[in-house]
Amino acid sequence: MSTTGPPLRDARRLVAAAGGTVRESMIWPHRHLLTLEDLTAEEITFILDTAEAFADVSTRSVKKVPALRGRVVVNLFFEDSTRTRTSFTLAAQRLSADVIDFTAKTSSLSKGETLRDTVRNIEAMGVDIIVCRHSASGATHLVARNVQCCVINAGDGRHEHPTQGLLDIYTMRQAKGRIEGLKVAIVGDVANSRVARSNLHGLRKLGADVTLVGPTTLVPRAFEQMGARVCHDFDAVIDQFDVINMLRVQRERIASNVFPSLEEYSRLFGLTNDRVRRTKPDVLIMHPGPINRGVEVSADVADGQTSAILRQVTNGLAVRMAVMFLCNQAAAGAEPH
Ligand code: NCD
Repeated sequence: MSTTGPPLRDARRLVAAAGGTVRESMIWPHRHLLTLEDLTAEEITFILDTAEAFADVSTRSVKKVPALRGRVVVNLFFEDSTRTRTSFTLAAQRLSADVIDFTAKTSSLSKGETLRDTVRNIEAMGVDIIVCRHSASGATHLVARNVQCCVINAGDGRHEHPTQGLLDIYTMRQAKGRIEGLKVAIVGDVANSRVARSNLHGLRKLGADVTLVGPTTLVPRAFEQMGARVCHDFDAVIDQFDVINMLRVQRERIASNVFPSLEEYSRLFGLTNDRVRRTKPDVLIMHPGPINRGVEVSADVADGQTSAILRQVTNGLAVRMAVMFLCNQAAAGAEPH
């Protein structure tokens, strides 16, 4: 990560043009966003506050501000995605950037080119921000080490998915007014989930009380070392939480035999109406999508009153606008004058 940043007045002026205000106390120092583990509580809060300032843009009839005019964003996705890719594209367009979509299946990678060569060639075309998703944990760090432009991790293997973690935390703060002291359950396939890791790092830094819930094979006790409580009996603790964040069973990453069957998994850990009746009445139910209806969440719960699932998607736009805006500011501040 780079350590120099632009004068904050530039950030404040541009966010003010977008219709909001940002606290004066920070000069954003990082040109890349690769993990939440590497950010401080203050930095995470600063991104959330900046996202709040951008949220208003999406509600206007003209949904654009000039913050990234003349900049080029490349979506470099080596794994499937619907929400995240669309969200980054729209966020970049709302900041007036030019956006290019790169799909691994139709690229020279299928002709044997290495990831390092691919990203260096893409950067040579004058790209300012690379948004990268890859099935290998650590791939976005490799990309960041090989280019000068900004790199944003849109999910690397089981490792982290920082913008999803940020938008989840943003949605919790919006609904509950705070993160400190909030009791949050993250339920399901924690072992294979980059969403779980980013949530856990971000929530712990901001002082939430996090419980990881799932079968022993998917929620090993080792996670206690990351500051979480680990629990294998959902029904025993379900009435304790302000927020329940349900994870998709990562069938593409999962080793066989980690649980007897999807039916059994769903019976023990699926969020049904019957279980929701035993939660706190004002519980917030979340899921990063895509949902396997009837496996981790029943259809009526996903579409019900307590569900924040579509609000998460809406908030993702503001969060990604903030992240691209801040990383670009840090890179611009580090450029020789
Ligand atoms: C998540 C992902 O890809 O990690 N989805 C997303 O970004 N919206 C979660 C998942 O696939 O289960």
